[in-house]
Amino acid sequence: MTQRTALVTGGTGGIGTAIVRYLARQGHRVATNYRDPAKAEAWRAAMKQEGYDVVLVQGDVSDPASCETMVREIEAQAGPVEILVNNAGITRDTTFHKMSYQQWMDVVNTNLNACFNVTRPVIDGMRGRKWGRIVQISSINGQKGQYGQANYAAAKAGMHGFSISLAQENAKFGITVNTVSPGYVATDMVMAVPEEVREKIVAQIPVGRLGKPEEIAHAVAFLTGEEAAWITGTNLAINGGHYMGW
Ligand code: CAA
Repeated sequence: MTQRTALVTGGTGGIGTAIVRYLARQGHRVATNYRDPAKAEAWRAAMKQEGYDVVLVQGDVSDPASCETMVREIEAQAGPVEILVNNAGITRDTTFHKMSYQQWMDVVNTNLNACFNVTRPVIDGMRGRKWGRIVQISSINGQKGQYGQANYAAAKAGMHGFSISLAQENAKFGITVNTVSPGYVATDMVMAVPEEVREKIVAQIPVGRLGKPEEIAHAVAFLTGEEAAWITGTNLAINGGHYMGW
C-alpha cells in the first residue's frame, strides 16, 4: 500500500495513541504534537519500546501561529501531511449556569478552532497534490448533547459542520473529509467523570460497556485508506448503540 505521512493531533492521549499505532501499522509515517515535553518524552520512549517511531513536534492546537510552525516542522521531518486526524480535545464539564467564559473558550479553542488552526496549513498542499484524507474526531455528545457539556457539545457539533463544508469544497481535489463520533471510550477523559455518574452512563449503552480506543482507531484507518475515496462528508457514530441517529 502507499506509504503516506499522517498527522494525528493529540496523539499522546487515549484515543490518539491508538490511532497513531493503527496508522503506523498501515505503514504510514506518523507525527503528533505535544505541549508538555516531559509527558511527550515518556510517551515516545514507551512507543519506541513497542516498535513505533513517531515524529513528535511541539505545538498547541488552540494557537494558529503554533500550528503553522508545527506543520512546517513535521513536513521538514516527515514530508507533506497527506492524512490529518484532528483528534486533540479537552473537557471542562460544568452546567452552563456555572460555566465561566474561560471554560467555554478553552473548549471551543482546543476542540473546534483547532480544526481551522491545523487544517489551514495543510489544505493547500493536499489540493496541489490532489490527494488527502481529513478526519475530525468529534463525539456522541456533539450529536445528542450532554448535561454539563454545553461548551463541548457545541464545539463537537461544530466539527462536523466543518467536515461537511470542507468535504464539498475539496471533493474535486481527491480529498475526503469525514467525522468519527466516538461514544464513551475507556480513556482518562471518561474515567475523570465521577464514578456514580459514569455508571449511570454505561447503563445506557446497549452493548453494555465502554468502548476501546482501538475500536475508534480501526474506523479512522478505514476512512483514511486508499479505498475509502468515495466516502466523504459522513459522520460515523461508534458508540455501542448509545445514540442511534440516521
Ligand atoms: N440529566 C438530568 N439531571 C442530571 C444529569 C442528567 N444527565 N446529570 C446530573 N443531573 C442532576 C443531578 O441529578 C443533580 O440533581 P439534584 O441537584 O436534583 O440532586 C444535579 O444535576 C447536579 O447538578 P449540579 O449543577 O450541581 O452539577 P454538579 O456540579 O454536581 O456536576 C456535572 C455536574 C459536572 C455535569 C456532572 O454531572 C458530570 O460530570 N456529568 C458527566 C458529564 C459527562 O458525561 N461528561 C463526558 C466526559 S467524557 C467525554 O466528553 C468524552 C466523550 O466525547 C464522550
